[in-house]
Amino acid sequence: MAHVKTEVEGRIAVLWLDRPEKKNALSLAMTREIHAALDELEAREDVAVLILAATDPSCFTAGADVGELRERRKADALLGINQRVTRRFEEFPHPVIAAVRGYALGIGTELAIACDLRVAGEGAVFGLPEVGLGIVPAAGGLRRLAALTGVGFAKEMILTGERIDARSALRYGLVNRVVPTGEVLAEARRLAERIARNGTLAVRLAKAAVNAAVQAPGATMDLVECLVQAVLFDDEEKEARMRSFLDRRRK
Ligand code: COA
Repeated sequence: MAHVKTEVEGRIAVLWLDRPEKKNALSLAMTREIHAALDELEAREDVAVLILAATDPSCFTAGADVGELRERRKADALLGINQRVTRRFEEFPHPVIAAVRGYALGIGTELAIACDLRVAGEGAVFGLPEVGLGIVPAAGGLRRLAALTGVGFAKEMILTGERIDARSALRYGLVNRVVPTGEVLAEARRLAERIARNGTLAVRLAKAAVNAAVQAPGATMDLVECLVQAVLFDDEEKEARMRSFLDRRRK
């Protein structure tokens, strides 16, 4: 795989996002690699906990690949390409811990909140800049964030598109803990090892049951996210905003 790596040590697996030259901008190819990696990890009986991390300590991911997003239309939105990725982590049979260092923007925040637990570095930056690009965070951002942070703060993040630092993320419940950036992976591993000491089936069913309790309307909301994004993907303002984002970067 070109941009996704996995490793398993003991009962703990790590899935590494590894496209540092593009700040881990999530491309379609990368989403396919993530699905393939998760297929393999799900099939392993020795894995009890998964950590999602990025090899680049400055960036978890800077969001979906805007060059690709710009080309996506209504039919693509209805496929829920990125939404299916976040759902894979949510539905991974064992707990998933996001180890967030640096930027977690757009789908970066959405990936983190689809995981079961989140450890953030002191320099972590979260944000959902989608509305600034004329679209919405339709990879679970619209449906999951309010459950973690409360509706008021979720709306502030989604409607303003402003970034927040790790301390604010902790205050609003977006992350479980904040540690020095150099200790994020060690802390994620410590948590993973603590979980792995418990009954594997008990932990697995506990995750599934808590998910079931908070996600009763999840399937409906997944559809709503896709429909909203489908309208926006064909909108002229999205085209103009993404063109100006890409043009700014070329200069
Ligand atoms: N999609 C596509 N490419 C992206 C990207 C994205 N979401 N985020 C970063 N990149 C690319 C840049 O275009 C650049 O490519 P280049 O070297 O070929 O020009 C490369 O990654 C490095 O990014 P750069 O902006 O130079 O790094 P930086 O350290 O100055 O800034 C960020 C980092 C995260 C602040 C900045 O990249 C950014 O704001 N990214 C977009 C965030 C966003 O709006 N995401 C939401 C998408 S829905």
